[in-house]
Amino acid sequence: MRAIRIHEPSGVDGLALEEVPSLTPGPGEVRIEVHAAGCNFPDTLMLKGAYQDKPDWPFTPGKEVAGIIMDVGAGVPKGADGFAPGDRVMALVGHGGFAEEVTVIAEEVHKIPDTMDFMTAGGFALTYATSYIALHHHQIHLTPGEVLLVLGAGGGVGLTAVEIGKILGATVVAAAGSDEKLALAKQYGADHTINYRTESIRDRVKALVGGADVVYDPVGGDAFAQSLRCVNTDGRVAIVGFASGDIPQIPASYLLVKNISAVGIAMSGYRLRQTGPTRNMFPTLLDWCATGRLKPHTSFQFPLEQTAEALQTILDRRSTGKVVIRVRDVDSGVTTPDLA
Ligand SMILES: NC(=O)c1ccc[n+]([C@@H]2O[C@H](COP(=O)([O-])OP(=O)(O)OC[C@H]3O[C@@H](n4cnc5c(N)ncnc54)[C@H](OP(=O)(O)O)[C@@H]3O)[C@@H](O)[C@H]2O)c1
Repeated sequence: MRAIRIHEPSGVDGLALEEVPSLTPGPGEVRIEVHAAGCNFPDTLMLKGAYQDKPDWPFTPGKEVAGIIMDVGAGVPKGADGFAPGDRVMALVGHGGFAEEVTVIAEEVHKIPDTMDFMTAGGFALTYATSYIALHHHQIHLTPGEVLLVLGAGGGVGLTAVEIGKILGATVVAAAGSDEKLALAKQYGADHTINYRTESIRDRVKALVGGADVVYDPVGGDAFAQSLRCVNTDGRVAIVGFASGDIPQIPASYLLVKNISAVGIAMSGYRLRQTGPTRNMFPTLLDWCATGRLKPHTSFQFPLEQTAEALQTILDRRSTGKVVIRVRDVDSGVTTPDLA
């Protein structure tokens, strides 16, 4: 089978399409014929050896896929709640997604509705699960009527936080670095927008809504520092990522004076726990999608051999929502979302 591989920490330039042996599912695993694979900022970190999970070199990157079950390993449940060859599924795979096949434990696999095409499903799981967990997290617990400030609001996780924030009844302030990304966030439900290349986050939040009850931050750096200065008393800051490359330091006095909580969110640490914020997560997200409350947005599609170019659009800050790799030419026949 064909797979994208990287042999040393060399970033996107080190990616190569190679022929590798077919896979066999181990106990508790399924093998998926991959049709689509989502690109995420964490893939770009993994290629440099700068991500918290560090697979042995060489490896195949790619953290989420959609496709068809080829076969199941020993002990995988069968029947309506289990899996069988032919099932259409999405899965979170850690790494290995940019390939024609992947094996993954069954707990990470979710059946997809017939109405969902593979290109949508391939870019769905990671970003929506991250924002769902972050905003439902017991220490964040976004409640109706609160003000949610989303940084990087036109990006992969950011746009999903805007959508889920609106579903949860928040007033959403979207902050991003371009008017195009802000227009998209507005289309996805944001009540207010701030361009942090030209405007002060702190001043604009105070002028628009008085302050933020929850900050959702996948960016870090100066945007984080400014946001911390407009959080309301009893506010919460969800630390999701550092796309700016700048991991901020938090002055503890800011937290103390206004009873603010800063909470780290690692989706990977939650997704297999069937309690708390992850209970019924995928059925809920897929239901919201089926009923049109979530509208997964894909800005670019690339074929498997152009995975490096796909990840470069993320590094260049040119993508909005998701970038998805078309691993096979055939799709389910269901209409794909808007393309750039
Ligand atoms: N905690 C978790 O479980 C989890 C899960 C998924 C992702 N993440 C993290 O969340 C962050 C965003 O991931 P993503 O997949 O949503 O990425 P993305 O689609 O590229 O979005 C990131 C956004 O960050 C902004 N940004 C600011 N400075 C940037 C820079 N120097 N380079 C690139 N983007 C920059 C960009 O918006 P503007 O141009 O508008 O500033 C961009 O839209 C990453 O740090 C990722 O590792 C964490």
